[in-house]
Amino acid sequence: MLELADVHTYYGESHVLQGITLGVGPSEVVTILGRNGMGKTTLMRSVIGFTPPRRGRVSFKGDDVTRWPSFRLVARGMALVPQGRRVFPSLTVKENLDVARHGRGGRWTLARVLELFPRLGERARNRANNLSGGEQQMLAIGRALMTNPDLLLMDEPTEGLAPLLVREVGRVLGELKREGLSILLVEQNLSLALSVADRVHILSRGQIVHSCGPGELRSNEEVKSRYLGVA
Ligand SMILES: Nc1ncnc2c1ncn2[C@@H]1O[C@H](COP(=O)(O)OP(=O)(O)O)[C@@H](O)[C@H]1O
Ligand SMILES: [Mg+2]
Repeated sequence: MLELADVHTYYGESHVLQGITLGVGPSEVVTILGRNGMGKTTLMRSVIGFTPPRRGRVSFKGDDVTRWPSFRLVARGMALVPQGRRVFPSLTVKENLDVARHGRGGRWTLARVLELFPRLGERARNRANNLSGGEQQMLAIGRALMTNPDLLLMDEPTEGLAPLLVREVGRVLGELKREGLSILLVEQNLSLALSVADRVHILSRGQIVHSCGPGELRSNEEVKSRYLGVA
């Protein structure tokens, strides 16, 4: 589905991603863990074309998409749930979902998104800036689904959410995975990350410093304390 080969990404002279190689297979959830400032968001931006890599290759569904513009990647089946949600504040819930509707059609319709997130249905006519943080997160996920993606990029979807809502995001991730969606997830909540991930990569200063299955990381106290600050 997605392959990165030796991806190097810069902001000006600042060399942030320093040779990232990873893959996400069909229906696979791959999780990126790491402390703040390590390059997780830059990795997402490199994949979806906001900050294209200066070196290396990004392949998606068999195409070399390294320098494709974002709109073309979305048309091909990639969607991003950005860090900090970034829903359209002055549009209603329904309008936020409608603008993302994509000509390709597919499994995700307004009705199905509202079925997945009943709370959004109740608030369909509310402006997005009147929603709680958790509701905005659901809306950001729903908006991405409206494009009917094959690959979903999610950048810290549980950031700032109360424990109950973290569980809700976990439930949704599990459902999307069962639907067969491929997901590249950036997450700081270790237990959520481990509960949904098929594979985990730890990012430190723009490099992958450890890759393993979720079970191995759960018991690897040294890696957790060195790279994630988990006691
Ligand atoms: N737009 C930008 N211009 C310059 N430097 C940036 C920009 N965005 C992020 N950085 C820097 O790149 C590094 C990685 O940032 P980021 O990818 O946002 O990390 P993370 O998502 O892991 O917290 C940090 O040192 C950050 O200061
Ligand atoms: Mg980030």
